[in-house]
Parts: sequence; structure tokens; C-alpha cells
Amino acid sequence: MTEQAVDIDAPLNQNDYYRIAERCIPGAGLGGYSLPDDVRFIAERGEGSRVRSVDGRWYIDYVGGAGANIIGHCHPEVVEAVREQAGRGMHFFGTLNDLAVELAERLVGIVPCAEKVVLTTTGSEATFYAMRIARAFSGRTKVLKFEGAYHGNHDYSSFSLFPTEPADYPHGKPDSGGVPEALADTVLVAPYNDLDTAEGIIQEHRDDLALVIVEPVQRIIFAETRFLRGLRRICDENNVLLMFDEVVTGFRLALGGGQQFFGVTPDLASFGKVIGGGGPGGCVAGRADILDAANPKRKGRADYAYINGTLHGNPLGAAAGLATIQILEQPGFHDGLFAISDKLLSRLQQVLDRHGVPAIAAGRNSFWQILYMKEAPTSQLDIMTSNIDAVRRLDVELLRRGIYVLPGVRRFISSVNTDDDIERTEEALDSACREL
Ligand SMILES: Cc1ncc(COP(=O)(O)O)c(C=O)c1O
Repeated sequence: MTEQAVDIDAPLNQNDYYRIAERCIPGAGLGGYSLPDDVRFIAERGEGSRVRSVDGRWYIDYVGGAGANIIGHCHPEVVEAVREQAGRGMHFFGTLNDLAVELAERLVGIVPCAEKVVLTTTGSEATFYAMRIARAFSGRTKVLKFEGAYHGNHDYSSFSLFPTEPADYPHGKPDSGGVPEALADTVLVAPYNDLDTAEGIIQEHRDDLALVIVEPVQRIIFAETRFLRGLRRICDENNVLLMFDEVVTGFRLALGGGQQFFGVTPDLASFGKVIGGGGPGGCVAGRADILDAANPKRKGRADYAYINGTLHGNPLGAAAGLATIQILEQPGFHDGLFAISDKLLSRLQQVLDRHGVPAIAAGRNSFWQILYMKEAPTSQLDIMTSNIDAVRRLDVELLRRGIYVLPGVRRFISSVNTDDDIERTEEALDSACREL
């Protein structure tokens, strides 16, 4: 069948864009989270808490750039910082730039575990390089991750993300074709928030284990404080490094991230999203003696971890990140964010209860998701074995009513969500419940 050519002189509408995308991009999407065909849209602009499609429809945005847009779209101070930097240079490679150094200093000043930082471009690179650094530092190979945890798009992260039955711990399952089988011996998996199982695995593998990596909030599930404290103790007792993946929780749960929120300091932590202000940016933060493994003066030694990336420390991302952090540092920022979150979640729960829908508005502290469960989940397995199809159907109805969420996926509140957003979201849920 021949494709109908697009008239490039006429303004393109959404269908035109999708026709082109279907021809040029596998699945006409950007990865695992394409919207269903009947509610998909092409985003064209963002303003505050809203995004607009190329066809001019506005949505209330709870996807929030997967958590990167903690202060919404186009905050004037961020736009100004990026504009100014764009006029001074988009990118330098091979030498440091002034804003990358300023960002590093701010991170070291703010993040409890950060004595030094290795700047990257994304959160995935940060977790990938943290694993390499931990291996070079310790001389050991294995890493322990938790079931349901996502640490980015590399092969070491792609194990046991979507469990539908209990695993044969510590053996994980690859979630993607193309992940070498050999890696399964390198990545150990334990159930989240289950200290006893983690302790058994860590003790058994302590001589080969370089790193335990954990998210302080795994998807929508908050770690129990005793779990994080317990991991700290067990890692110390077994001489294994502890790392928090703070790509999502960093600067969101508190200025100093999950480690400040829970009061537990890891040896290493990864950051992304907010520190790039919606642009490129990520880092590995941690103890100086560990991060010095990345010092290129060690080249040729077994305890040297080679780190490199064209866009590492990109000044545009650093400009956006620094401007964002400055806003987050204003007194009361997080209290304000969490108050919006409390309000939205309690209103949504009231709607669900009024309609007798057997679901909860799960989450807190700016994380949320509607789940067909009676009580908040404690593991990813709880979520995957709940009525996730019903969750997706409800989310699709929300999309139809102008609420931008990804069906079945955890979502975020940003500091610019307004009372009007909350009311409209409540109305949309009310109407969706009636429809279903
Ligand atoms: C906890 C966590 N770690 C790592 C990543 C990967 O970050 P990026 O998408 O910037 O590579 C993500 C992305 O969503 C994440 O949620």
C-alpha cells in the first residue's frame, strides 16, 4: 500500500504527525509508554501544569516529564537561564564548563552522601556508571536489585521489573529480549521491603557482591524506614556498598532526596530528572574514596572506572537544573507540594468511595496512582496481580476527559498544580466512574 504524501506546505494536524510517525518510528512512540490509539496525542507545548496537543487540546499534565518537571513547564526563571546559556554555547566536550562545576558544588552542598559527584547526561547512565564504579572500587562483580525496581534502560536494570508471580530469589527474569543471559549471574534480585530475604542473599553473596541498589520509593511504594535502615546495617556488616537510586526521589521527597527524607545515608546515589531541570542531566553522588575510582589519572589500573559521555555535564541542562534547584530551595517549597498532593489524593478517594469503586488513590508526597486494591501495595507483585486492566480502563477515561496520565503508570504532582486542576481532575474521575 502506498502512503499518502503529506502536504508539507499545509500545517500538519495530529493525524498527519501520526501517519509520519507510523512510517518512521517503531510503534509510533518513544518507548514502552505509548498512549492507546484512541486517546493518543502529539504534544506541542507545555505551560505550567498543562500540555497542549498539536490540535490545540489542553491537558492537565500529571506525567510531569516522568518526574523531571517538578515545577511544571516553562518556569520563567528556568526559561531565562536556558535562553542565556544557549546564547553562550549549547555544548562543550573535553573540558569542564562553569555551570557544570556550579551544579556539582550545589549537589555536594545539598545531598547528604555527596562528597563528590560524577556528572552524566541521564539517570540510566548514572546507575550504569555507579555499578561500574562500585565494581572497580570493590573488585567484585554482582549487584543486588529489588523486584519491580527500575534503574534505567541498560541491561543490568532490565531484570524483574514486572513480576506476575514470586521469583526464585535471587534469580531474576530479564524483561527484554536482547539482554545477555550471562548477566543473570551478575544481577541478584530480592523482594522489596523484605529485610530478612535481602539479608540472607547479601550474606550468602558478600564475597562477590559489589553493590545493593534500592529506590527509596519504588514506583508508588514507599520503603519502610526500617527496611532502609536495615539495609544500611546489613551492608556495613557485610562490607557491601549501599546505593540509593534517587533519580525520581532526588529533590522531590526533600531537597536532599530520599536519604534526607528517611534519614539514612547511602554510600552512593544516582540522580537525574530534576537536576537537569527537564533537560539533560544526571549524576552519581557519593563517598569521595569510592568516586575517585572515576579519576582518569588512574587509567590502566584495575580500580579505575572509565566514564565518558558526549553530553556529560551539559551546560544547558546544568543551567535548567541550577535554576530549578534555586526554586526548590525557597522556604516551604516541599510543604506546598505535599499539601497539593494530600488535597488531590483525598478528593480522588472521596470520588472513588462515592461511586463504590473498589480502588484507592494510592501515594503521597507528590507520587500518585489509582489502583484497584483495598490497601496500599507493599510490593510490585501486589500491583501486577491487582486488577491492572481496570486501572488502565479508568486511566483511558481520564485521558478522554483531558487528564494526561499514562494508563497503569505511576504519576506525579508538580508545584504548579492549581485548585482548578484538582477540581477538574475530580470532575473527570467522577464522570469516568459514572461511564464505567
Ligand atoms: C528510579 C529510576 N532510575 C533511573 C531511571 C532512568 O533515568 P533516565 O530515564 O533519565 O535514563 C529512571 C527513569 O524513570 C528511574 O525512575
